[in-house]
Amino acid sequence: MSEKTKSGAKAAPVYAGDCAKPVTTASLVDMKRKGVKITMLTAYDCPTARAAEEAGIDAVLVGDSVAMTKLGYESTLPVTMEEMLHHVKAVKRGLSRALLVADMPYLSYELDAKEAARNAGRFLKEGGAHAVKLEGGLEVAPIVKELVKVNVPVFGHLGLTPQAVHRLGGYRVQGRKPEDAERIATEARVLEGAGVCAIVLECVPAELARDITRRVCVPTIGIGAGAHCDGQVLVSDDMLGLTEGGPTKFVKRYADLRAQAVRAMADYCREVREGRFPGPEHSFTNPS
Ligand code: KIV
Repeated sequence: MSEKTKSGAKAAPVYAGDCAKPVTTASLVDMKRKGVKITMLTAYDCPTARAAEEAGIDAVLVGDSVAMTKLGYESTLPVTMEEMLHHVKAVKRGLSRALLVADMPYLSYELDAKEAARNAGRFLKEGGAHAVKLEGGLEVAPIVKELVKVNVPVFGHLGLTPQAVHRLGGYRVQGRKPEDAERIATEARVLEGAGVCAIVLECVPAELARDITRRVCVPTIGIGAGAHCDGQVLVSDDMLGLTEGGPTKFVKRYADLRAQAVRAMADYCREVREGRFPGPEHSFTNPS
């Protein structure tokens, strides 16, 4: 099923259930059951959220990747709860149908389960999110349980977990060795047992993602995890070509917006310097 968007573009196929209905965590499970692929993108502001929803997106993640894409940090570690809430509120204003997932920033959930529940609750209560996402396996299972106890739906995140970049020694594929693959698969089942409603699998071999997807009942959402996951997520800045430098292997660039923006800004600078902008059509004159 596809439909015309407000801007006239032909939208990608939308959730095959009822596309006018808000997407819920239960719809994602339903989609897995029916074999309908789940689409998810990050967004950090209201216009991007609106565009994603107009394009037919099922779920929007306000990722802590905002630290790198928008705030100029070299990792996701520095972003704070207050900064995340600011972006979640902006994205919320742009959505009416898609599921809104808020990423829990580094040190907002790992140290104390009650503090984790309080912070997660703020994303729902103040930010209007429908679910939160947190990174990690066995060590975060008790925290997932605590969040579920206060009715916060939780997305897990396994494989390459960027908040652990320094422990992992860089942004690299995880689960290549059989013992690592086994551990990640076990962690997926433990997270499912703890009550997660979905699991993001980042940068793991496609075979491992396929096995996990078969073994758990909750949907898997892959990024750099091959085609067998129940859904896919990409960082919107990466797929729109807004990030500097070449894309990593798992990113497909669907547009080249940064290059277009640089060209447009250079044209503007040149026209202002040459006195060609503003022209009469952009100027006000007194009525005669
Ligand atoms: O922060 C983020 O954007 C993420 C995605 C890469 C899944 O966690």
